[in-house]
Parts: sequence; C-alpha cells; structure tokens
Amino acid sequence: MEKRSWAEPYKIKMVELLKITTIEERKNAIKEAGFNTFLLKSDDVYIDLLTDSGCGAMSDKQWAAIMLGDESYAGSRNFYHMRDTISEYYSYKYTVPTHQGRGAENILSQILIKEGDYVPGNMYFTTTRLHQELAGATFVDVIIDEAHDASSEHPFKGNIDFNKLDKLVEEVGVERIPYICVATCVNMAGGQPLSMENMIQLRDWSNWHNIKVVHDMTRVAENAYFIQQREEGYGDATVKEIVYKLCSLTDAATMSSKKDAMVNIGGFLAMNDQEFYDKACGLVVIYEGLHTYGGMAGRDMEALAVGIKESVQDDHMRARVGQIEYLGQKLLDAGVPIVKPIGGHAVFLDARKILGHIPQEQYPAQALASAIYVESGVRSMERGIISAGRNKETGENYQPRLELVRLTIPRRVYTQAHMDVTVESVVQVMQHANQIKGLKFTYEPEVLRFFMGKFEEVE
Ligand code: F0G
Repeated sequence: MEKRSWAEPYKIKMVELLKITTIEERKNAIKEAGFNTFLLKSDDVYIDLLTDSGCGAMSDKQWAAIMLGDESYAGSRNFYHMRDTISEYYSYKYTVPTHQGRGAENILSQILIKEGDYVPGNMYFTTTRLHQELAGATFVDVIIDEAHDASSEHPFKGNIDFNKLDKLVEEVGVERIPYICVATCVNMAGGQPLSMENMIQLRDWSNWHNIKVVHDMTRVAENAYFIQQREEGYGDATVKEIVYKLCSLTDAATMSSKKDAMVNIGGFLAMNDQEFYDKACGLVVIYEGLHTYGGMAGRDMEALAVGIKESVQDDHMRARVGQIEYLGQKLLDAGVPIVKPIGGHAVFLDARKILGHIPQEQYPAQALASAIYVESGVRSMERGIISAGRNKETGENYQPRLELVRLTIPRRVYTQAHMDVTVESVVQVMQHANQIKGLKFTYEPEVLRFFMGKFEEVE
C-alpha cells in the first residue's frame, strides 16, 4: 500500500488572530530591530517560526489541568504528579523543577564541573555550553563528522563518535571529564537524532570509564519517533517505550519542557542518584525556588504532567514530524538547499548555498532570516556563526561549518497552508538572493549575542 497521508489527531477549538503587515511596514520593522528577528515585536510577525519553545498549543486537557493548580508554597500536589509522571515516562527517580531548561543547566554545571574540566557533547547548544564554560569547563564536540555536513544523508547525524571520545580521554584523562552531555534530536545539527545502538554503546563506554551520562532530553520524543521509523528492531516499539529506554540508559537529564512536553514555561533536572539530588535541592532554592516548585507555578507543573503523556503518543508524533517533513519536502522540490535528512522540529536552510556571495564574516544566515521576514512576515532565526559566538580564551569567532536559517515549527499551532506560504516566501527570496546584502554588528553583546545583537547592512 502507498504511504498514507498524516493528519493532525486533534481539531481546533480556539484561534488566535494574526495581523498581516505590508512590505513597507516590515522593512521598517526589521531596520528598527537591527536586522535581528529576536528584536521584532511579535505583533509585526505573521507566521512565527522563530522557535518551537514555549509557543506550542496546549490541549483542552492541559488547560483543564491549569485549573487544578495547587499554589501552595511547599509540597504542592502538582509537584508530586509531575515527579511521578517523570519517573513513569522518563525513568528518572528524582526531579528538581526549574523555570526552564537553562535553569537546570546552571544547577547541573555548578554541581558536576570543576575549573579546568572538559565536557564532551554531541554538538554544542548555546545556553548549555555557556553554563559549562561559566562553571569552568571547556566544551568538546564529539558528534560524528557527518553532522557538520548539511548534505550528508546519514540517518542518525546526532550520533557520538567514540574515536573522538577516546582521544579526549587520552589527552586529558578521565578525572577531568565529569560527564558526557548527550542530546537527543540534536538541535544545532538540524534536529537530527542519535540511534539507540549509539546510546547503548555510550552507556557501555561510560560504564567502562566511570563517567556519568547526562541527557539533554529537550526533544527526546522526536528522537524516539525517528528510531521507530529508521532503526532496525524498533519498528514495532511505541514512541513511549523508546523514550523510556533512551532515558534509562542515562544517569541524569536536563529538560526544557517548553518543547516536547508542550507547556509555555518550565523545565527540570532529573537524576537517579540521591546525593546528586540533595545537592541540586541545595542550589535550586538559591536560584529558582523551593525544591517542590523551582520557579514553576503549581498549575504549570500540572499542565506539564499532562503534556508529557500527550507528547509520547504515536499519533501525535506522526503528525508532528509529518508536518516538518511536508515543509522540508516542498522546499526540496522547489530546489531550496536544506539540511538533510529533514529534522524533527525544524527545517534548516543552507544559507552558505543560498547566499554564496556573502562571506561568513558578514553573517549570511542572519541576512537571509531578515530577507524572509521582509518578504512575507515569516519569522525564522540564525543558527550559524553569530549563534556560535566567540571562543572564551582567544576571543576569536567560532567558525561553524553549518551556516543555517531555522524555520522552527511550534507544536500543534500552524496549518499546512501556513507551511505552503512559508515555502513560497523562501522561494521568492531565492529569486532575488543576489541583491541581499551582508551585515555587520552595530552592537555585540558579550554572551549569547544572537539574542540581542544589532546589525546594519554592509554597503
Ligand atoms: N537544550 C536544547 C537542546 C534547547 O534547544 C534549549 C532551548 C535548551 C537546552 C534551553 O532550554 O530555553 O528552556 O532554557 N532551545 C530554544 C530554541 C531556546 O529555540 O532552540 P530553555
């Protein structure tokens, strides 16, 4: 039988009206925003593909859960529901809630890292690496080479290269590697999964070396779906089963619940080790809040517990990833160069190829994101040299091979017609690509410069 179309396993009960602006209004808006899509007002945006973080649509059951909020300062029943759901679905015994993912990264890094340590990971994430560096560590990229090649069709570009891990151990010794940071569905590689085989191998490797495995599980359900679809032996397993297995192969996790778990705010640090948990409780109370709410409202913890259950449903994941595939395939059919295979949460445009006339030092991905916004009001974001930032020792720009624009799809928010409009606007921009100018900083923040940096066009 031919592959059947996917359709959303939900229907729409309430809508949010959007403003449609003119091209003149958008030209002014992007100029005012210093050519940075993070600095646009959302009222000036038509289709918002900036991120999939915190902007998903909650279900009626999640909204109903909001009404069950127990806002007691200590011991809220919503905390226990959330903690037990995390144990049941993600395997971790202890949970420390945080206001979002980076709150968990801060606590984790402060507890496990000593000055001069090295933290290997399957590609960096912006906030994750910064917290590692602030705690005194150096991040070391140990993802397979294919992940840095936008055109490689490797089915598991999120995989770890064990030769790179072995080399690091040889160079610095196991004592200086407090943990390995393994991300599922690697964001900066283009939403690319790692295989179960690779995760099992990582478990063996780390047992052998007695190094902890910490899981950035922000998009674990998307990774699980790809394992189900692509990896031999998992075709009959459910997303829920695969998620549990992935988590249970790791020692601890940081989570930004604003993605997979479809809440507007929230995150957690979870682990199996009680001593680690006790230390985390000691820090969460300083930076986030008491250990039974850690920066979240009771109602948000309740909505998160429900969101976790919805996020691992096979039907949900089929539609979720199906929508990204639909967008990506249409772009490919129109001849737009994108990262392949198509990722789990976003389609990544290859700005190096689209704007070949702009050198990386003039930020082609940033210029492309600005041009797409002006064309149609579709907001995307840069994931290239600006996001990569500067090396903390040398002050030099990191020069990532991937210079990308991310069209990120919020969960359960946009329709197929919105995807069609997005494709049309990227194609339009490509037709006048040679007129797009490079950019230079007029204001460069010291850290996470992609958020608030400002630019002007290079004449
Ligand atoms: N880890 C990954 C893989 C992420 O994608 C993010 C956030 C975080 C950690 C941090 O979590 O935002 O809740 O503090 N990514 C968002 C994005 C911001 O747009 O990709 P947070």
